[in-house]
Amino acid sequence: MYPVIEWKDDAVVMLDQRLLPGEKKFITLRSHKDVARSIREMVIRGAPAIGIAAAYGIALGVSELEGDPRLQQSPKGTPPQQEGQPGFLEGKFGEIVAAITATRPTAVNLFWAAARMERVFQAHKDDFRRLRQELLAAAEAMDREDYEINHAIGRNGQELLKSGDTILTHCNAGALATAGYGTALGVVRAAIEAGKTIQVIAGETRPYLQGARLTVWELQEDGIPVTLITDGMAGHVMQKRMAQAVIVGADRVAANGDTANKIGTYSLAVLARYHGIPFYIAAPLSTIDTGTASGAGIIIEERDPAEVRNFRGQVTARPQTAVYNPAFDVTPAELITAIITDEKVLYPPYGQGIASLKGLRQK
Ligand code: MRU
Repeated sequence: MYPVIEWKDDAVVMLDQRLLPGEKKFITLRSHKDVARSIREMVIRGAPAIGIAAAYGIALGVSELEGDPRLQQSPKGTPPQQEGQPGFLEGKFGEIVAAITATRPTAVNLFWAAARMERVFQAHKDDFRRLRQELLAAAEAMDREDYEINHAIGRNGQELLKSGDTILTHCNAGALATAGYGTALGVVRAAIEAGKTIQVIAGETRPYLQGARLTVWELQEDGIPVTLITDGMAGHVMQKRMAQAVIVGADRVAANGDTANKIGTYSLAVLARYHGIPFYIAAPLSTIDTGTASGAGIIIEERDPAEVRNFRGQVTARPQTAVYNPAFDVTPAELITAIITDEKVLYPPYGQGIASLKGLRQK
């Protein structure tokens, strides 16, 4: 459809999602610090896309070191004053990873991508030229793989939908949040590709409006019927039987299936249970964090109160207003009907299902 992120001429190019739907503009980032800032400021967002951005950012950070004399790999007999500084590359790599991973604490894909890049670093740190190539190759592989993974999620998830269904979704778990195609919206796309008639209801997703600005935009670009509602309308929509399923993405799935996703997801899950509507999570294996036992261990990002007091320069509350602005909430596993992964669809009990995933053991 359009590249959300790509490597071009020794730089990282990103679609600036802050400007959508008004403007489709790409920005070029020439340092890992700029990539870190872009993740923090939501130029790019969505857990899988954040992971890919992290990988490219780390590759970029290492390539910034090119030509640094402290890096010099000293041939035998080099006078000591011309030798490289021992431990310099390792120290710098640690700083680059720290800058990138300090951006958004909830999206586990960020840490997953950094760990994968760390393994590449350890394998090739003795040969700087090769290291640069291999880090970039790993970032590009993660980008390509994510696109394939989303198609697999779509194939697995579309089996759960019937022709004529209307799907309620929240935030943006679409092409814009991934390398393309999407997780929750990938399921919708795959169902339509399988010949089913599917419509979407998108919750606007206060305060950042990923639903209104991004989900609606990308579905309209693809000609998929979508109706926008404000978040407070979800209960009414379910009571009126206007949606047959809820499908959302995830920022982190704990080992027991508890799932962190955009703030407001938990409310939808409670409403869906009350109304007897299936509630599905669509997520790649890279979003499953077996190192976190349950939702209680998931760090919830809190964002700038200004996001709630204002919107795009428009004042919505007085500047001195106290604000609580958690970016995510945790939906307990017991409210989740199924977790759609690229390997298979998991049903409760999720602890067993997650432990049975072959792909996780190979990670
Ligand atoms: O704050 P955001 O826009 O990064 O939040 C995004 C979400 O909550 C998505 O649902 C999640 O990351 C899954 S994206 C496939």
